[in-house]
Amino acid sequence: MCIIVMQMKSHGCENLISFKGSDALDGVYAPLVDAMTAYKNNPCIGFHIPGHNRGQGVLNAFSSLIGEDALNLDTTDEFDNLGTLFPSTGAIDEAQKVASSVFGSKRTFFLTGGSTIANLALAFGLTGPLDKIIIGRNCHRSVLSGMIISGANPSWLMPKKLNDWAIYGPVDPVDLRGQLEENPDTSLVWVTNPTYEGVVSDIEAIARVCHEFDVPLIVDEAHGCLWNFSDVLPKPALQCGADAVVHSLHKTGGSMTQSSMLHISKNSRFDVQKIEHALKLLHTTSPSLLLLTSLDAARAYLSSSVGSCAIKNAIDNALYFREMASKIKGVRVLNALNNVSFDVTKVFIKVDGLSGKRLESILELDFSIEIESASDEGILVLSNIGNKKEEFDVLINALRKIASSNYPDLAYLEGIKFMPLTAPSVVMTPREAYFSKKERIKKEDAIGRVCAEVIALCPPGISVLLPGELITKEHLPYLSDYSELQVLSK
Ligand SMILES: Cc1ncc(COP(=O)(O)O)c(C=O)c1O
Repeated sequence: MCIIVMQMKSHGCENLISFKGSDALDGVYAPLVDAMTAYKNNPCIGFHIPGHNRGQGVLNAFSSLIGEDALNLDTTDEFDNLGTLFPSTGAIDEAQKVASSVFGSKRTFFLTGGSTIANLALAFGLTGPLDKIIIGRNCHRSVLSGMIISGANPSWLMPKKLNDWAIYGPVDPVDLRGQLEENPDTSLVWVTNPTYEGVVSDIEAIARVCHEFDVPLIVDEAHGCLWNFSDVLPKPALQCGADAVVHSLHKTGGSMTQSSMLHISKNSRFDVQKIEHALKLLHTTSPSLLLLTSLDAARAYLSSSVGSCAIKNAIDNALYFREMASKIKGVRVLNALNNVSFDVTKVFIKVDGLSGKRLESILELDFSIEIESASDEGILVLSNIGNKKEEFDVLINALRKIASSNYPDLAYLEGIKFMPLTAPSVVMTPREAYFSKKERIKKEDAIGRVCAEVIALCPPGISVLLPGELITKEHLPYLSDYSELQVLSK
């Protein structure tokens, strides 16, 4: 049995995390971290993929850049007794089972293609041509790509709008009920929660409505994976009656970029085998063990006392930042509103007289501060498990200086809307349009034509127009980056 003891020091919390072997009953158990440690400590002579063979066949400068260990550990499943992802075996299987138990799911899948692959597989595995699916319009573009793959017919549920901030608000369960009454043949409901900016919908109420109509619910909780680990944060969808939940652990959960989890809930009405089969068909056959192990490590960290402390600090820092920023003249913070609640760790702010894009560039160029994203209205700041309070003090001081200086806004940003809040006019399914005969025409000539491409702004990847939707003049402000559009041929 291998025992590794790591000294963790972070955010004022000092603790010991012990990763023990598979018979451990206490401490933080991370089977894939254990297995990779054993792999590192017991090197074999390898005649297999990846060809760099533990970093021996790469450019020295690259090896020095990322560190020898990173290359030493860059392997894929099938080799070195680490287990396989599809089918799930060995330490990978064990790590998924521990995650499943911690998140309270019937089954949890580790993924190395981001939450994108989870959404694609859910669409591919659970929907078919012309199936009616009710989807929150603020879904990520991967849900739409899934609709193109499966041929399903989305019926759009428009979330409320927070017009002063030019962002989507929550999904209203009453609107959902109305849409289900109008479309009794709906085969599933798919909502995104929280929104990119942290707006939270009432998933318990949404799930109740879905259950009344006996329709399963998918919640894309890509930005809410910390919720499972804190009572202060909103209730996770797996505890609210969702049938499947998507988590981008790499976004805020501390795992490496591209690693995600897909959970199937204990009472899910979905056929797990169908989802697994879809994943098998769409997922890479060479999953990075580094990414998979980072999921195991992130789950173990978040479950540990050190991780709890890091989450508490992220929340405390966010509350501190909200309070301090609100006190600066000319700075406005999006806080809880009537009937709209937030994940407090996502802080959307604006400075009077400056577009969010301009504010973002001032912070970056003059203060070396990089924030999560910017729209024409404001900027999104994330208080993460890896941030320190002192970093927020630097940001607060920068905002003070900016708000009291006369930074000019940039004329070219005037009138541009980055967040699409338009209700679509659907002519045909995304798949039908995607595979129709198309042509490229000037944007100005495209009004009244049917769009043939996915036009979504990243971040947050929410669509302006989809294949099969009518292009209207209301769309033009959102299309400033385009001179031509792909439309259906006449
Ligand atoms: C709500 C939502 N779902 C899914 C995704 C896709 O996630 P990933 O980048 O992990 O593929 C994103 C990405 O931003 C997202 O915001």
